Amino acid sequence: MTTSTTQGSEPSSKSPLDDLERRRAEAQLGGGETRIARQHEKGKLTARERLDLLLDKGSFQELGAFVRHQVKGFGLENNRPYGDGVVTGFGTIDGRLMYVFSQDFTVFGGSLGLAHAEKIVKVMQLALENGAPIIGLNDSGGARIQEGVASLGGYADIFLQNTLASGVVPQISAVMGPCAGGAVYSPAITDFVFMVKNTSYMFVTGPNVVKTVTNEVVTQEELGGADTHASKSGVAHLATANEADCLLKIRELLSYLPSNCEDPAPLAQTGDPIDRADSELNSIVPENPNKPYDIHDVIERVVDDGKFFEIHPDYAANIVVGFARLGGRSVGIVANQPAVLAGVLDIDASVKGARFVRFCDAFNIPLVVFEDVPGFLPGTDQEWRGIIRHGAKLLYAFCEATVPKMTVITRKAYGGAYDVMNSKHIRGDLNLAWPTAEIAVMGPKGAVEIIYKRQIADADDPAATEERFIEQYREKFANPYIAAERGYVDDVIKPSETRRVLIRGLEMLRNKVASNPRKKHGNVPL
Ligand code: HXC
Repeated sequence: MTTSTTQGSEPSSKSPLDDLERRRAEAQLGGGETRIARQHEKGKLTARERLDLLLDKGSFQELGAFVRHQVKGFGLENNRPYGDGVVTGFGTIDGRLMYVFSQDFTVFGGSLGLAHAEKIVKVMQLALENGAPIIGLNDSGGARIQEGVASLGGYADIFLQNTLASGVVPQISAVMGPCAGGAVYSPAITDFVFMVKNTSYMFVTGPNVVKTVTNEVVTQEELGGADTHASKSGVAHLATANEADCLLKIRELLSYLPSNCEDPAPLAQTGDPIDRADSELNSIVPENPNKPYDIHDVIERVVDDGKFFEIHPDYAANIVVGFARLGGRSVGIVANQPAVLAGVLDIDASVKGARFVRFCDAFNIPLVVFEDVPGFLPGTDQEWRGIIRHGAKLLYAFCEATVPKMTVITRKAYGGAYDVMNSKHIRGDLNLAWPTAEIAVMGPKGAVEIIYKRQIADADDPAATEERFIEQYREKFANPYIAAERGYVDDVIKPSETRRVLIRGLEMLRNKVASNPRKKHGNVPL
């Protein structure tokens, strides 16, 4: 690094206050004007500009602005920029305490050396001890090459803190530039990963190594850009349009979350009446059981002000997860999506749902399930890739969760998926069904083909006979009343009343206390 702005620690003949100002100005400038201009040319903001957008105006208090590395060799002894390539500290979002770090690409490419890592670890420990979320803005060339194993150790120190903080305070990562090699594993351990379209990428090995090893030719964007991770790999929870959009969305997400695993989520004001009925819901489920509808319409008609903060919208869209409010209180929504693959549960949907359920449970956010699921996806692809093991994750997550749990069966609740989607049997607290619910071991056609196989084959008119059996089966099983007779469904409600009943349920479960047997930790089928 050659900039003249990164050298000054010489004692000044001026007053101590002037000296402080000079040093602070130097620290503020990071890698210097030229590199800042280069950052802007790429459509990226600086580390400090990002914090200005993320945090409440004027709330940021920096820690460690004067930290510098102590490395000798590679000419680094004469190149010791203040801050060591990361801006760390605390501030507020909507008045609530947050800890932050923001990597400064203008200093050594934001690469991570020991001092840089120690600064991040310090704010992570503060976040953990003080019960406030930690937000990391990543923009880094990875391990600082000149520091060798010390920088690898620095990463490991961060990974450990990420793991210790998991489930104690929310951890949010924004990837706003390169994030390569082992560096990807810190964001990967955090609860939510946001990426910025066209300017951020994450991969374990970049396009050059990929070409050498596998002979594949692929661009950075294709291999590990925001759209790739938000839609194909599921590594990113949201791909955002630009940096400002990313930072504002992080603020919005945090409005639904508590500061730590002991505190309640913030209560929001809403003008949306708690007893608001929505008659459109009464006809939202099509008469033809094979016709799709969009579960977003159901969610938005039920929750406060129609506001739904969707997580992973572009990944495994056959399940929909995200945050909303009911009567001002945060809830986590998990919903099958009949409009995508008929809402079937496959590997990706199971993993996506399970991770979300476990986050909500860790942070005491009640779960609301909208269920319309024909079962697990059949086929060799799914079986050979382990739908059994992955589907079990979602089952395990719902079984294990002790937060208030409510389910609304809107239409199909077939087979194992009936059990999985927060059924009464796995400690669902309030299980409701719409009159259109069909609760059965399998769909009518599949069932009739098995149990009446011989009668259909021997019939004079097999098609008409099958149709008759299907009709009988429907009458007997394709309704919610058999489950309601047994108490597996607590009530069959008019769809229009869903909001009122769920808010009442949430109120009823407000002081719920439930626990799991004492153990070191469970063994979720990873
Ligand atoms: C030291 C680095 C650096 C690094 C970049 N720089 N990466 N310095 N260690 N890892 C410096 C450059 O020397 C340059 O300094 C400045 O940052 C900007 O870099 P440029 O290359 O000019 O920027 P750009 O063209 O935008 O390219 C960015 C980049 C490229 C794609 C990130 O720099 C790059 O490929 N860097 C190496 C990435 C890498 O392989 N890292 C190790 C990954 S493995 P000047 O002074 O010119 O401004 C890893 C293991 C972690 O991280 C393991 C954890 C378990």
